[in-house]
Amino acid sequence: MAADPLLQPYHLKHLTLRNRIMTTSHEPAYAEDGMPKERYRAYHVERARAGIAMTMTAGSASVSRDSPPAFNNILLYKDEAVAWLKDLADAVHSQGAAIMIQLTHLGRRTRWDRADWLPVVSASHRREAAHRAFPKQAEDWDIERIKQDFIDAAERVHAAGLDGLEIEAYGHLVDQFWSPLTNTLENAYGGSLENRLRFAFEVLEGIRKRVGSRFLLGIRYVADEVLEGGLSRAEGIEISQQLKSSGLVDFLNVIRGHIDTDPGLTDVIPIQGMRSAPHLDFAGEIRAATQFPTFHAARIQDVATARHAIASGKLDMVGMTRAHMADPHIVRKIVAGREDDIRPCVGANYCLDRIYQGGSAYCIHNAATGRELKMPHAIPRATTKKKVVIVGAGPAGLEAARVAAERGHEVVVFEAASRPGGQVRLTAQSPRRKEMLGIIDWRIAQCTAQGVLFRYEIFAEAAEVLAENPDIVIIATGGLPHTEILESGNDHVISTWDILSGSVKPGAHVLLFDDAGDHAALQAGEVICSSGARLEIMTPDRTFAPEIMAMNLVPYIRALQRPNVTFTVTMRLLKVAQVGGELRATIGSDYGMPPQERVVDQVIVNHGTVPLDDLYFTLKPRSRNGGAVDYNQLVTGQPQTKVVNPESSFMLFRIGDAVAARNTHAAIYDALRLVKDL
Ligand SMILES: Cc1cc2nc3c(=O)[nH]c(=O)nc-3n(C[C@H](O)[C@H](O)[C@H](O)COP(=O)(O)O)c2cc1C
Ligand code: SF4
Repeated sequence: MAADPLLQPYHLKHLTLRNRIMTTSHEPAYAEDGMPKERYRAYHVERARAGIAMTMTAGSASVSRDSPPAFNNILLYKDEAVAWLKDLADAVHSQGAAIMIQLTHLGRRTRWDRADWLPVVSASHRREAAHRAFPKQAEDWDIERIKQDFIDAAERVHAAGLDGLEIEAYGHLVDQFWSPLTNTLENAYGGSLENRLRFAFEVLEGIRKRVGSRFLLGIRYVADEVLEGGLSRAEGIEISQQLKSSGLVDFLNVIRGHIDTDPGLTDVIPIQGMRSAPHLDFAGEIRAATQFPTFHAARIQDVATARHAIASGKLDMVGMTRAHMADPHIVRKIVAGREDDIRPCVGANYCLDRIYQGGSAYCIHNAATGRELKMPHAIPRATTKKKVVIVGAGPAGLEAARVAAERGHEVVVFEAASRPGGQVRLTAQSPRRKEMLGIIDWRIAQCTAQGVLFRYEIFAEAAEVLAENPDIVIIATGGLPHTEILESGNDHVISTWDILSGSVKPGAHVLLFDDAGDHAALQAGEVICSSGARLEIMTPDRTFAPEIMAMNLVPYIRALQRPNVTFTVTMRLLKVAQVGGELRATIGSDYGMPPQERVVDQVIVNHGTVPLDDLYFTLKPRSRNGGAVDYNQLVTGQPQTKVVNPESSFMLFRIGDAVAARNTHAAIYDALRLVKDL
């Protein structure tokens, strides 16, 4: 059998990388006090132990005080970083992987009202839409001090024993000098391409002088901004060639696109429903033009595409970054011939949106990622085999079944529907979001391999559950749409699920009242909009869809910005009355606006779900623990020991939306952290 191209070593100058798979720099925002401490280390060590060749740590580790983190990046302008980086490097090296770090000055891509409240600096006054700060245009002394900061930071990395570093030059200060759109300087650093590149080359030169030649130095840079008036492809190729011929760098890490707006960022780091590996050919063209070591990542999620990237000679090292957040054990599974066991990255970009929303990257369906100190990626076997009955085969129930089966328990799952998936299956009705089914399909395959018994089309009552003689019962029955929120007229409204499931067709003139601000509303909105109906999406909040962050919002807006759709904020649906064949909606506002009316033919209410919890409450008095969860035991990773009813033979738990309306990650985390200790 031919050797797997992905598993061949790669010689980068003096460094031998054990295979062709790396994670590109990505800031998961796990730093504590700006330092890569235990949590950070555990996250990177997990993938190193599983065989990755190289992990490019941090993302945008900040070299200067006036580059305050946009979201909890590492503060490389502090000397105390050296000791933490050394621990990190030693731990990764001890697992046989190489480790580098990305350095940056964010330039205008941050905010002035963080950290030291210093003005944001760039090569022009032009604001970046995404982070909103109006920058100061760099003066001569800014240029000098920031160059020095880069060089000092590089020395810290070198002292810590990392194998190398890369400079970030896409959307940050270095390429803000490069791009004609963000450089209005009229001195030696502005104007011609040579002038615009001067800052970058001076930084690279200074670093090289400081760290010597046995330290790898690279650059992750934009080689085509794909933006009117921006850095062109021809300039990108010219820059690539100059980088090579400068002799200052050892590798190129290619980016195509711009990240100054949310849509731009989403095209650079594509979300589900977008093309696979959209910039791979372009990266291959750079490699062909330069004949120089080339790295690249952008939605190369599956092993087959990664293998193609290497086998076809487009890349020397392939980045599988989010893929490793979904499953840090990719390489180990490839080596073991178990590619089918790899938990797929479904492109939900919950990880990215979460760093802004919640200050930490979490994978939508791997709740152990970023929680390595507490949550296992490989589930340990239990010492005593138990019988576990799970009701509900949505994400929570399936994760509970998977983890229980890996513990070695005997598992039976009851599901009322004919297929597993719950709300995820509803989400996947949208062609754009059908990858979400990977969350379900992977769990079904894992459960099936472990002998979990699935019993579909059974609306389990207490009798069915108890007939199984369970030791543990887990209720994961989810919820149903909650639409009964009006002063009057609840009977006249439908739910977003009615639209998403196709059980109700969109009307001709629709009012969609979104009081949850989550995916269901905008996803139903997409269906209605594409039917050609007139649609008003109304929210009582001050922005619409407040639970949907930047990157997830992009495809919705691209679908919904149509003449037939309007968005209304700060207004609240109060009542609906039927008048003839029409619906009259009374609209108020928490801000005191006098009531208004809308006449439409369909009103939809999106207000989360109410738990389907009848079975739980029936079983509760008969259970050993009275359904109680000891939160201390749950959070500190101990088995549940509460007993209120000693003669009962089973413990009862409730997880996911059967408790309260939350999201897919919460449902899966509920299941993992409970069941791993049962
Ligand atoms: C949580 C998160 C944070 C990221 N932060 C950075 C960063 O600071 N610097 C950077 O160059 N890329 C960053 N990226 C982009 C990744 O390096 C990579 O280019 C992107 O995820 C696309 O590759 P993938 O499809 O293999 O995930 C980040 C990605 C994620 C998921
Ligand atoms: S959240 Fe989505 S995009 Fe991010 S790693 Fe997980 S599956 Fe992939």
